[in-house]
Amino acid sequence: MISDQKLLEKEIARRRTFAIISHPDAGKTTLTEKLLLFGGAIQMAGTVKARKAARHATSDWMAMERERGISVTTSVMHFSYGDCEINLLDTPGHQDFSEDTYRVLTAVDSALLVIDSAKGVETQTKKLMDVCRMRSTPIMTFINKLDREGLTPLEVMADIEDHLGIACVPLTWPVGMGSSFKGVYDLRTDELRLFSAQHGGRRVEDKVVLKGSDDPRLDEYLGDAAVKLREDLELLLMAGTPFSLEKYLAAEQTPVFFGSAINNFGVQELLDTFVRMAPAPQPRPAIDPSLTALTAGQTGVQKAQDNAQSADPLPTRLVHPAEAEFSGVIFKIQANMDKAHRDRMAFLRVCSGCFSRGMKVRHHRTGKDFNLNNATIFMAQDRSGVEEAWPGDIIGLPNHGTIKIGDTFTEKTPLKFTGIPSFAPEHFRRVRLRDPLKNKQLRKGLEQLAEEGAVQLFRPLINNDYILGAVGVLQFEVIIARLADEYSVDAGYEATSTHCARWVIGNDKAQFDDFKDYYNNDLALDAEGALAYLAPSPWKLESAQERYPKVEFRTTREIS
Ligand code: G4P
Repeated sequence: MISDQKLLEKEIARRRTFAIISHPDAGKTTLTEKLLLFGGAIQMAGTVKARKAARHATSDWMAMERERGISVTTSVMHFSYGDCEINLLDTPGHQDFSEDTYRVLTAVDSALLVIDSAKGVETQTKKLMDVCRMRSTPIMTFINKLDREGLTPLEVMADIEDHLGIACVPLTWPVGMGSSFKGVYDLRTDELRLFSAQHGGRRVEDKVVLKGSDDPRLDEYLGDAAVKLREDLELLLMAGTPFSLEKYLAAEQTPVFFGSAINNFGVQELLDTFVRMAPAPQPRPAIDPSLTALTAGQTGVQKAQDNAQSADPLPTRLVHPAEAEFSGVIFKIQANMDKAHRDRMAFLRVCSGCFSRGMKVRHHRTGKDFNLNNATIFMAQDRSGVEEAWPGDIIGLPNHGTIKIGDTFTEKTPLKFTGIPSFAPEHFRRVRLRDPLKNKQLRKGLEQLAEEGAVQLFRPLINNDYILGAVGVLQFEVIIARLADEYSVDAGYEATSTHCARWVIGNDKAQFDDFKDYYNNDLALDAEGALAYLAPSPWKLESAQERYPKVEFRTTREIS
């Protein structure tokens, strides 16, 4: 019989947890669907799109999003592929995406980047890649829509290298594009796969495989394109960077595939390589207060919380997925679509050990025990009750607002996982309440909505204003609609002079006190009581940074 530890290690080794990221319309939904199709998780293309539409129809504020043809939710899909168990985390596709999108990237071990060959790198992709870079997340790239006219492969790769600061190493190479797209050449196996358009279901093995660039049938099948292909191959051999698995895992290189998701072309190669190369669940840093003595009367979690705000960090260690004790961290909260119940789903990434239904775990922020009877796993098509889950898996914990982003659950050790930060918002609005008698409801509504993590709430030190900050402006509309819908609060917005927000930490008490005096009018507390500087302009921020070199102006803040 296989021992528990061996089983744990085996389950970890076969898991891949990744996010799929792209600019809207690059083909993320289409590719996701094809991955699910090849994994056997769905039987027909169109299912993911249909599900997206159905999900949008379930509440009023979601209807608002549907009208704009966008999705601001992030979904999680679990499916099997061969011997692998895959957790795919989708990211919202519109430019009005939210902080959630960034945070999803903190819950994965790798990412798949989809680029439209005609458009190259676009703004949203850059922002998401910044987060990947912060964490050195390995990235695999799929250049899509080769069946359309686009940039040359070298142009797209140069664009990726310039904008995303990562070396591109092609593993396949396209022959032609648009109406003259003939197929892709696999640079590792020296095989040519000829393109055939297939919009529907699972791909059948009808490809013609030619071996090597000297194969005389190359000219027969490709005509003039064979000459160009041979030139390209020679150039790649001479000037191309060799692929290194270590460099991919260190996020220094991205392996590149070319294809056409809608035509099922190039997807299987991508998926096969992905499951082979992408990292299994990785260790994660956590504050472990048990490593130092607690002061009298202090609980481990209090110590961890105090520490999050202090400049004197507690010992942090890497929690390895193969540690026997179960641990997990919440990276996302989503309001349930059923507004009558106002319940929420908290998304937990299992970080170590095995989860089994009904197990009792400690919710360390509150110190309460939690019976995980109702945990849900997100299958490709349905949610279903989860019997067991392993490191890398994502499970949903239904709750009524007791769980917050960044919360850690373990069997007993009072860990506090780090690396699930808040990101500095880029857009700001001052909330205007139309009925002054509803101030209490407004406050409650804003606090609860801020806890879900889509917007941040700032309270200036000098007045009672509510300043909302968001990463994408759509969130502002969602908040007003939800305040009306769920809290019966009629509110609107006024412009604010805030240009950007930075969390401030003083490394020198005298200088920090002076800073706080000088900038008192522009200081605010966020929903967790952390001090932030709401800078009215970029140059004011710059001058504050120059004037107070011992004050740190942070673009992210660890959630306590
Ligand atoms: P997104 O999730 O990244 O926003 O993109 P999505 O998959 O929805 O794809 C955006 C559009 O690009 C869709 O067309 C889709 O059919 C098309 N597309 C995806 N992959 C390919 C490809 O390999 N080649 C070509 N030519 N088109 C592709 P649409 O007209 O917006 O939607 P639909 O009516 O096809 O559903």
